[in-house]
Amino acid sequence: MSEYPEIDGRAFRNVLGQFCTGITVITTFGADEAPIGFACQSFAALSLDPPLVLFCPGKASRSWAAIEERGRFAVNVLAEEQRELCARFGSREQDKFAGAAWHRSSLELPVLDDALATIECSVDRVVDGGDHWIVIGRVLSLAEVGESGRPLLFYRGQYSAIEPDKTVPAPWRADLEHFLTTTTLDTWL
Ligand SMILES: Cc1cc2nc3c(=O)[nH]c(=O)nc-3n(C[C@H](O)[C@H](O)[C@H](O)COP(=O)(O)O)c2cc1C
Repeated sequence: MSEYPEIDGRAFRNVLGQFCTGITVITTFGADEAPIGFACQSFAALSLDPPLVLFCPGKASRSWAAIEERGRFAVNVLAEEQRELCARFGSREQDKFAGAAWHRSSLELPVLDDALATIECSVDRVVDGGDHWIVIGRVLSLAEVGESGRPLLFYRGQYSAIEPDKTVPAPWRADLEHFLTTTTLDTWL
């Protein structure tokens, strides 16, 4: 018998679904220079110094195979209006970029035009995470694209969105120094 208790898969999904996340599309170019990508909620800021982020692709992900081969990826943070685009990148469709507005960045990565933010990285380390990989990326370049856009959220297995406007200033708190993703006096949430 295992030393660990049995955890029901449905309960795992239901309980973890209470943790609301943003959604990204993680992209790269394939060996044939075709753009490749997948919808990914398991993205997080990891370290400020050095600048690192992480995401967790399933071990069967074809996009991850391409990213591993290329050694580089772009994280596109999705905006509220990009639900359809997200569904497309969350499917196993062949050409997920068909109909999407994108361009080739100066770091030679496919970047979605209407995302909220873009973070371009090189693969730094890959750690085994059960049925997923934990991919740690070194940030090479980053930019906020939309000035006042609002993020697309994923909550309890469904798309969601935030209520307050992004242009409301965030109150400054000294203890925010300890957070990786926060604002300073001269920026806005
Ligand atoms: C909102 C949303 C979030 C997702 N998050 C992840 C994720 O964190 N990791 C992952 O491996 N797949 C995630 N997926 C599923 C992948 O996007 C999907 O399995 C992927 O498109 C597989 O295609 P590929 O084989 O072309 O990589 C998510 C899908 C959606 C719709």
